[in-house]
Amino acid sequence: MKHILRISGEHERLPTAELEAVLEGEMLEWSFEVEGRTVVLDVVGEDPRFLQRLAYTLKAAEYLGESDSLEELAGEVYDEIGDVNSFRVRGPPDVQVKFGEILHKMGLSVDLSNPEADIVMVEFRGRHLAGLKTPLDREYEKRRPQHRPYFHPTSMHPKLARALVNLARVRPGDTVLDPFCGTGGILIEAGLMGLKVAGWDVDRRMVAGCRRNLREYGIEGEVISEDALTGSKVVDAIVTDPPYGRASYTTDEVTGLYDGFIRRAHRLLEAGSHISIVMPATYEPNTEGYEIVGSHDVRMHKSLTRRIWVLKNLRDFF
Ligand SMILES: C[S@@+](CC[C@H](N)C(=O)[O-])C[C@H]1O[C@@H](n2cnc3c(N)ncnc32)[C@H](O)[C@@H]1O
Repeated sequence: MKHILRISGEHERLPTAELEAVLEGEMLEWSFEVEGRTVVLDVVGEDPRFLQRLAYTLKAAEYLGESDSLEELAGEVYDEIGDVNSFRVRGPPDVQVKFGEILHKMGLSVDLSNPEADIVMVEFRGRHLAGLKTPLDREYEKRRPQHRPYFHPTSMHPKLARALVNLARVRPGDTVLDPFCGTGGILIEAGLMGLKVAGWDVDRRMVAGCRRNLREYGIEGEVISEDALTGSKVVDAIVTDPPYGRASYTTDEVTGLYDGFIRRAHRLLEAGSHISIVMPATYEPNTEGYEIVGSHDVRMHKSLTRRIWVLKNLRDFF
C-alpha cells in the first residue's frame, strides 16, 4: 500500500528518521522517496495504523495515482473512488480548481464541508499525485506538561517525547523503560501507543507524580523509586531524558551519570534492542558495545540545544 505523507519542516532529518524507526519497529517491508516535505511511502501490507504513531508526520493520504496530466489522473482517481457521490480536492490552488472541475464533469458532486472522498493533490518530482486523506489524531497540545495533574517544568513537549519513543524501534506490546522518568512525559506517549511502560526515579515526589499522571491517561505501568545506575530489569527498549546538569547538578556529576548509565544499560537490554536518550549536545558518550543508529540535534529553546542519541545494544549479557 502506498501513502503520501507531509512531514514537519521543524527539523531536517528527524521526521524521516522517525518514520524509518517506526517501520523497522513494526517490522514492515518498505521503501520511500522524499522531496522537500513530501514523502511517498510504499509499505507491504494494508494496515495503516502505524501512521497514527508518528509525531513528525503532519498529514497523510492513501496514494491513488500519479500522472503528468490532470485529465489522465482524474480517470485513475475516478476508477478508484467512482462509487462515492461527493468529493473535495485540496492542493495547490490552480490544480485544486482544475482537478475539481474535471471530476465534477465526470458526474461527482463537490461537498466542501463533509465529502465522502477527501482528495489531496501534491506535486512530486514534477508530477501530480493524488491521494485520499487519512485522518491523523494529533492531540499533542492537549497533552502538554502544564495540562497534567502533576507538573514539573523539566518535562519535554509530548511531540518530542513521542518521537524519542519511536526512535527506539518498538512496537505495541513491547516494554519501554524510562529510568529517569520524572513526571512521566515519555511514558505517557509510550503508553498511548500501546506499549507497556516502566519508570524509575530517585525522587519520590516524581514517582508519586508520575503515577498520578499515568492514571490520568488510563495507562498502567510499574513506576518505582529506583536509581538508574543500580536498578535492574530487562526491557525491550530504554527511552529517556536524564537530568541536564543545571541547577542541582554539577557538570561532572551529570557526565558521570550519563557515562555510568550508558554502561549500565547493557544489562537492561538484550542484544539488538535500542536506547533513545537525550543529552547535552556537548557531551560525547562512550558508545563501546553499541552501534550508533542516529544522532539528532534538537533546539529545546533559544539557548539550549540537546542531542538525541539512538544506540543499538550489541552486547549480550544473558
Ligand atoms: C529531566 S528529568 C525527566 C523529565 C521527564 N522526561 C518528564 O517528563 O518529566 C530527570 C529526572 O531524573 C531523575 N534522576 C536524577 N538522577 C537519577 C538517578 N540516578 N536515577 C533515577 N532518576 C534520577 C530526577 O529526579 C528527574 O526527575
